[in-house]
Amino acid sequence: MSKNVVVIGTQWGDEGKGKIVDLLTEDVAAVVRFQGGHNAGHTLVIEGNKTVLHLIPSGILHENIHCLIGNGVVISLQALIKEAKKLIESGIPVFDRLKISSGCPLILPSHEALDLAKEKKLGKSAIGTTGRGIGPVYEDKVARRVLRVSDLLNKDSLCEKLKNILNYHNFLLTNYFDENEQSLDKIFNQLLDQRDLILPLISDVSGILDDYHQQKKNILFEGAQGVFLDIDHGTYPYVTSSNTVSAAASIGSGVGPKRLDYIMGIVKAYTTRVGSGPFPTELHDKYGEHLGSVGVEFGATTGRPRRCGWLDALALKRSVLNSSISGFCLTKLDVLDGLEKIKICTEYKLHDKTISNFPLEISELNNCEPLYEEFEGWEDSTKGLKRFADMPLNAKKYVQAIEEMLHLPIDIISTGPDREHTIIRSNPFS
Ligand code: IMP
Repeated sequence: MSKNVVVIGTQWGDEGKGKIVDLLTEDVAAVVRFQGGHNAGHTLVIEGNKTVLHLIPSGILHENIHCLIGNGVVISLQALIKEAKKLIESGIPVFDRLKISSGCPLILPSHEALDLAKEKKLGKSAIGTTGRGIGPVYEDKVARRVLRVSDLLNKDSLCEKLKNILNYHNFLLTNYFDENEQSLDKIFNQLLDQRDLILPLISDVSGILDDYHQQKKNILFEGAQGVFLDIDHGTYPYVTSSNTVSAAASIGSGVGPKRLDYIMGIVKAYTTRVGSGPFPTELHDKYGEHLGSVGVEFGATTGRPRRCGWLDALALKRSVLNSSISGFCLTKLDVLDGLEKIKICTEYKLHDKTISNFPLEISELNNCEPLYEEFEGWEDSTKGLKRFADMPLNAKKYVQAIEEMLHLPIDIISTGPDREHTIIRSNPFS
């Protein structure tokens, strides 16, 4: 029996999805990205060597694996080619392994300019985007004016469509945002240069996935960001512009939802968030500092320091219901080593009432006071452990408490950045 497994982040992104996707790739024929773009930063460490991927699926380091970019992903050709060239320099034959859907929207330099201009205009209310043009390109997709990968096939119509879209972008940039125009000639020539590398990669991704299914091969769907950055189900407007819940794997790759067999929710042993927006369990004390410094919590894409806080079981319960999580992978448990106490938020106090569901209204979330269950920490190191039995007793209790709160198993525990630093209690493909 073949299996399709979806890996998604259950918090605000940066849960450590890349490492787990790389690890699970051993059992699959292909890895598929289905939403987001190069706003993502997926870090892989193999035998001490670090690779950060933004757009290329995290299975790329494995031989004989196809890496597919589905229609739901927005592509900056410049970012894609830069990332591919870096990997090629280190001996990875990226263009032999990579296929791209013809339906992917293209991020243009003018989308990035608009993203930055919008943030500047928002001032104090800025979202804190990655500045990669993600919001503006998804806007253009929904407005049916975006350039798609398939538009690269015909130079004449490409030029015409680009002219129209740049007319619109330049109108906004100059008249509304008071910024400089983007040059049509420059962008068109860039696209012509990039085109030759990209044309051979254009494929029918959903057709390929169906072929694999007929051949009874496993597929891994790699999510980016996390459930609370979802455009519909996240902490709107402090979200990204794509759907990040598990259902996006279906829409963003062209595979029907009945084919998704197992949803693995990646959960960091505490919580982090980059950018603005509510974060009820955020810490501004020595514990927050510990999580940030020991966890090296800096954005893999922008280098910004991440905000840190305790684990939030209420938020995770909402992720479970939004994404039909089958089981969890708990990451960065080793970052909690040495803390005398650890907390998990189990309820919120809101206007003198105790609530046990995660509200999505920003005004409510901003006024929520977290109520915690406290756990004793552990002194021994969990770093690099490969067997659950070897974990300190209090670390085991912490893991079991999360399982009990969420009524789901923690199938994998990541105990360090390297591929080897992992406890696999149950493999989702078995
Ligand atoms: P955008 O996706 O660049 O539009 O940014 C919107 C929000 O999502 C900002 O708060 C970003 O910090 C956040 N964000 C986008 N991508 C990631 C990611 O890969 N990890 C964590 N946060 C992200």
